[in-house]
Amino acid sequence: MPGFGNDFETEALPGALPRGMNSPQKCAYGLYGEQLTGTAFTAPSHQNERTWCYRIRPSVKHVSRFSRIDVPYWKSAPHVLDDITSLGQYRWDPVPHSDADLTWIDGMHTMTTAGDVYTQVGMAMHVYLVTASMTDEYFFSADSELLVVPQEGRLRFCTELGVIEVAPKEIAILPRGLVYRVELLDGPARGFVCENYGQKLELPGRGPIGANCMANRRDFKTPVAAFEDRDAHSRVVIKWQGQFHETFIDHSPLDVVAWHGNYAPCKYDLRDYCPIGAILFDHPDPSIFTVLTAPSGVPGTANIDFVLFKERWMTAENTFRPPWYHKNVMSELMGNIYGQYDAKPNGFAPGGISLHNMMLPHGPDNVAFEKASNADLGPEKLDNTMSFMFETRFPQHLTEYAARQAPLQDDYIHCWDGIEKHFDGTPEGNWGK
Ligand SMILES: [Fe+2]
Repeated sequence: MPGFGNDFETEALPGALPRGMNSPQKCAYGLYGEQLTGTAFTAPSHQNERTWCYRIRPSVKHVSRFSRIDVPYWKSAPHVLDDITSLGQYRWDPVPHSDADLTWIDGMHTMTTAGDVYTQVGMAMHVYLVTASMTDEYFFSADSELLVVPQEGRLRFCTELGVIEVAPKEIAILPRGLVYRVELLDGPARGFVCENYGQKLELPGRGPIGANCMANRRDFKTPVAAFEDRDAHSRVVIKWQGQFHETFIDHSPLDVVAWHGNYAPCKYDLRDYCPIGAILFDHPDPSIFTVLTAPSGVPGTANIDFVLFKERWMTAENTFRPPWYHKNVMSELMGNIYGQYDAKPNGFAPGGISLHNMMLPHGPDNVAFEKASNADLGPEKLDNTMSFMFETRFPQHLTEYAARQAPLQDDYIHCWDGIEKHFDGTPEGNWGK
């Protein structure tokens, strides 16, 4: 069903959805009515999100007593380690798969955390390495909304509210509290996850740009109702306040036959994103490429911005066209989905990650700088490229996995070694040969 944040209604059996009311004395098919809230009851009406579910059993039957379990690589903020330095410019080669059977839960490898899961601010960035489907196993995070960015392999999310399949070049958003199972559709899957502890992701305001371009509401897709009526010994894993717990039940919790509301998962094809940019000279701030934004308490200062760098035409005259050098009060974590990123022709491979933390200077390497400074500036198509950024107002802290086990490029800082001094006191500068 198309539309970002729409008020949807869908039923997998005819007549399962009550007409004109939410809580009939007896629901059709003997279903139970249940509300899932994504915002406080009293949230302003234009932000209020909830969904009414009509299900075979109420959710209280989908949990039993909880036992703490260890999920070794999935960390939550605050996770600040005394012996690990997060101050620096970091880059990683693509994280390889291991031989182990890893599901969505065990395969989640946290790279950075920021903010505080206890007070619902900040985020964590994970790489998922999934080699096994979940079978009679389900998960939900009470801590967070997950933004999933596949890089290799396809995944199927069988959720309470319907089925979403995603492939590289697409993204999925899984709301806080939604129960789901993750299946592999082909081979191992790798990708990136932004775990948002804070306010939900929404579309950015476009200001004077108007009502169109960037990410358009109609291109987001939400699944229709799909339910399982399956009795089988099942495990439900819950992430709650940074801790993981398991509970066992005797049936599938994906039993919502019909639902209506505006709190639901969705997917989006990044090929549908319509980039806009400079058409005469200069270079707008990278916020021009924002796909989704999750507000913090400070207007204009995001808890998270999800920013996309994809194919586009470069036409600016007399302009240094790659991203400029800068120091940013926000913290920038980037991932490469495919192709070559224009500020870093080498070393930032598909599947790779970079981190430019709060107030850490960065910019093009010397190869990119020299090439862009001397290029003939005709119209040029930047082709075969798709990278993204999770940008947050909170400094990001490396996990032990990111600092010691993932393929950190020890020499990344040297990418700026070759930058030369062109200043010689003359207005022309000294550009060497
Ligand atoms: Fe940057």
